[in-house]
Amino acid sequence: MTEAYVTLATTDGYGVGALVLGHSLLSHGTTRQLCILVTPGVSEQVRSALSQVYHNVVLVDVMDSGDSAHLALLERPELGITFTKLHCWTLTQYTKCVFLDADTLALQNTDELFTQPELSAACDVGWPDCFNSGMFVFVPSQETYEQLLDFAKTKGSFDGGDQGLLNSFFPNWHRLSFVYNMVATACYTYLPAFKEFGRNVKLVHFLGSTKPWHGESAAQPGSAYGSFVGAWWTIYRELVRPSMPQSEAKFDPTDAPPQQQEQFPAQLPDNSVDNSYTWPAPEQRSTSGGHLELVEHFSKLSTNENLVEGRQRWEAGRPEYMGRDSFDNIMAYIQSRINK
Ligand code: UDP
Ligand code: GLC
Ligand code: MN
Repeated sequence: MTEAYVTLATTDGYGVGALVLGHSLLSHGTTRQLCILVTPGVSEQVRSALSQVYHNVVLVDVMDSGDSAHLALLERPELGITFTKLHCWTLTQYTKCVFLDADTLALQNTDELFTQPELSAACDVGWPDCFNSGMFVFVPSQETYEQLLDFAKTKGSFDGGDQGLLNSFFPNWHRLSFVYNMVATACYTYLPAFKEFGRNVKLVHFLGSTKPWHGESAAQPGSAYGSFVGAWWTIYRELVRPSMPQSEAKFDPTDAPPQQQEQFPAQLPDNSVDNSYTWPAPEQRSTSGGHLELVEHFSKLSTNENLVEGRQRWEAGRPEYMGRDSFDNIMAYIQSRINK
């Protein structure tokens, strides 16, 4: 019985997203395999880096809905290609899988998801009767795959992407908590709920056309959103970039064919996000709760604590969760920044 997390990349930008995602899953001690579907649009360098992190890198053909009318309604013409996601049902070497978009980041271990049935997912924030297809539990099956292809051909997708199709195909989906697929902007759009439940978040999703690897962010330094992007960049800087075999120039967007050009800066632009977040040392990664690391980070923001002292205290496993580092203090600080 082999179970796996599965993601997808058709470009180097999403490939780098997948590298950060893979490191985040490993850092929280997942016991499951990591598998990625890639298309020929992902460069050899990025595929090679992916094979260092993922147990299985599977080359698949691009599938595109070609449904420009529905994609225009969604204002995301690039998402027809997400039909490629359907290939995940062909991974029948696994008994159960959790699909994760390449723009997601694990903040804690989520392995309990493998106890859930097909098709389990969390609500979409745009239309909560639908599930968001950035995270879902599924059972690979050639038969389901063929039914999905047939459904795609005969009925299409109401949004032109995989999410519309999968919601029509699995109308009786099983609802999971939003903590398994929290949209990163939820800390702006529903702050009181984020304050109440944010400490439980296990997986954050950078949904929308601006991705962390674009390096541009409207996030204010010190905001929760900025910290999520900062966490992404810390993993990128510390674990992904050093593992790239050649110089970063290889990933310069101008290297890519025009249709695949992506903004992909080597450095996080100054002042765009909170860049002081420090991922824990490797020996701590499998045992520490990821979100607690963010909590610790917020606590530094809230107290202006000396970074060295704070890090030492953290590394010694002594954050003051019940005191000055309490979640309420952190959120009060974030609220005060937002009020400003
Ligand atoms: N994806 C990809 N190439 C693309 C667009 C999407 O590989 O050009 C994959 C990738 O795994 C991505 C997922 O499909 O995370 C869904 O797209 P995206 O995350 O951009 O959609 P959003 O969550 O923003 O609606
Ligand atoms: C959504 C999902 C994404 C999906 C896209 C297209 O916004 O987050 O995973 O690929 O819609 O349907
Ligand atoms: Mn996504």
